[in-house]
Amino acid sequence: MEYLEIEGGRPLSGQVCIQGSKNAALPILSAAILHGGRSVLHHCPRIRDVEEMQKILRELGCHTGWEGEALWIDASSLDSFVISKKHAEKMRCSITLLGSLLGRLGQAVIPYPGGCVIGERPIDLHLQGLREMGVSFTQGEELVEARCGKLTGTRISLRFPSVGATENLILAAVLAQGDTWILGAAQEPEILELCSFLNALGAKISGAGTPSIRITGVKELHDGEYTIASDRIVAGTYLMAAAACGGEAALLRAPVSHMQGMFPVLHRMGVELSREPGALVVRGPKRCRSVTEIHTAPHPGFPTDMQSPLMAALCGADGVSRITETIFEARFKIVEELRSMGAQIQVEDHTAVITGARKLSGCCVKARELRGGAALCIAAASAQGVTRISGCQYIFRGYENIIRDLKKLGIVIKYHQPMTDGWDGPTRIRDRGYA
Ligand code: EPZ
Repeated sequence: MEYLEIEGGRPLSGQVCIQGSKNAALPILSAAILHGGRSVLHHCPRIRDVEEMQKILRELGCHTGWEGEALWIDASSLDSFVISKKHAEKMRCSITLLGSLLGRLGQAVIPYPGGCVIGERPIDLHLQGLREMGVSFTQGEELVEARCGKLTGTRISLRFPSVGATENLILAAVLAQGDTWILGAAQEPEILELCSFLNALGAKISGAGTPSIRITGVKELHDGEYTIASDRIVAGTYLMAAAACGGEAALLRAPVSHMQGMFPVLHRMGVELSREPGALVVRGPKRCRSVTEIHTAPHPGFPTDMQSPLMAALCGADGVSRITETIFEARFKIVEELRSMGAQIQVEDHTAVITGARKLSGCCVKARELRGGAALCIAAASAQGVTRISGCQYIFRGYENIIRDLKKLGIVIKYHQPMTDGWDGPTRIRDRGYA
């Protein structure tokens, strides 16, 4: 079993370059199949979810690979609209292939995206909007079959600003006949990224980043290149590490304009932020202040993906904090693990009440999902003693190389991959700097 080992108690010191955005790259990879040609993505993160999406695109008949830091996709030989369960069930974002397959081929057979520990994650808003564009669905136990003639633009109102549903509707509308309006659209920066990529390939989209998005259907797209913005949640994770551990660090290529929702909370915690050419400099306090009340919310509110990293930092804060999770119904799975480190957390429905402890204590904990795993790294870095984090494969889904990054920020971290060469003797643990 692989695990991370972190020796806590040191303030941050150093600088790290922020990777490309996972939640921008994944829908952009779906979008690439709308064009029967070549797209090149710069600053694409080398993460496991991108690898899984590449496997799906190859399964559909596309070609894709890396040229240096750039990922290229050639969708000219796309010849299938059926997505297998083995890849699709590993991540949520495969559902956005629904919109692009319908846009390009008029058909799609796609497994339901797995529900996961953070919530049920239904797709009713996706299906409702696509039906209004003329798509008909047959829904089985495990598969959704969709077909349409030429998609027709229309006005669609979303009852909730679902990121994925907004992305799927944009993808279906790019090559549709006429105009599509999405009202009540998600405003997350990743929507802006997706639309900027599509416009670079010749799409006609306006209003991205606002609640009203207009897509004027075009006949076809053309080859294009796009540089993906840095990952705001990865950058925010490292800011929360500074809040938890103190010290000073520089985040190079931090997507500051995408992070406005989290800055007020960091200021309330006593974290100082300043801009230097090409870098966001963070200075953490010796002990961060508590946050009396914070609710997660759709953008531009405080991001739900920052909720667990915030909770980890507040475990050592001076005072009592209350975090209310309003987006996902089961996103407090990390509480048990933090309690085992000495955190004092009470959960009342969708609110966690954290009474800051002087110091957490290192021990063995288990990551159960992506952002909770990253949050355990923050808790471990701020704790006294050594913490072992198993389940770290979840973290690698979205963090390109958290071992490399945290080492650059002055944290003592090792990645352990047990070595067994076939005999049932004791396993040998070999420290392997994660590639
Ligand atoms: C995207 O998920 C992100 N994932 C999530 O990041 C992020 O937390 C979320 O947006 C919110 O910002 C990717 O971009 C790959 P939603 P998505 O549709 O699209 C309900 C991470 O850690 N809902 O905005 O699935 C849903 O149940 C991940 O990087 C419906 O009810 O988010 C949830 O309660 C985690 N019906 C809420 O809306 C629907 O049809 C938000 O979901 C769709 C969603």
